Amino acid sequence: MKKPIIAIDGFSSTGKSSISKIIAEKLDIVHLDTGALYRAITLFAIENFMSEKGVDIENLILNLGKIHLEFKNENGEMRLYMNGENVSQKIRSPKVSEYVSQIARQKEVRDFLLKIQRKMAENRGIIMDGRDIGTVILPNADYKFFLTASVNERAKRRFLELSEMGIETDLKTVTENLIARDKTDSEREISPLKQAEDAILIDNTNLDKQQTIDLILSKIEKF
Ligand code: DC
Repeated sequence: MKKPIIAIDGFSSTGKSSISKIIAEKLDIVHLDTGALYRAITLFAIENFMSEKGVDIENLILNLGKIHLEFKNENGEMRLYMNGENVSQKIRSPKVSEYVSQIARQKEVRDFLLKIQRKMAENRGIIMDGRDIGTVILPNADYKFFLTASVNERAKRRFLELSEMGIETDLKTVTENLIARDKTDSEREISPLKQAEDAILIDNTNLDKQQTIDLILSKIEKF
């Protein structure tokens, strides 16, 4: 039986990744959180190419070939390894969140990750979440969804998530970072965050995680 290819795009902290993970388990397909890939490259940049003026983008681009990224399934949890190191936790830091949109707007970075993402999606059922999956990475996906929610609701969710991870921050900083990232992601020249014409729009401001999952599953036929 053919397994579905599903694209989930949308704004930060709409629950894309945690929702996609559960849907993947339910449909017995692979889940790929593509934001994690952009975050890993950002971590690489912060660790290796920081100058007083911020990230040295030129040097990062010259050294993209040195980055090896791999997802490994460890007891049902997808872990991201960068050059042999498990970076799953480190890529969630506020510092990475602060710089990631700046890195994600670079054409060279997007081209580099485009190939990796398409390769990961080859010949299998998959649910990929990100910003340009339905528009650029998997334009022929069987199902496309675009998730949105109010800024206040999303900031609350992100703040809780970070607190649970033991990362200290405050609601104002989280809100400002969300707004800034949404703006950079939506306004960038290459592959901006935007709803694909054939994507189903879901506003989950007033829906919890399970209700969002049920709504998405109700749109997917039995494969
Ligand atoms: O989903 P996230 O918040 O972990 O994503 C981090 C950043 O990566 C986000 O601000 C935009 C970028 N991103 C992107 O440009 N394209 C994707 N497919 C996924 C993420």
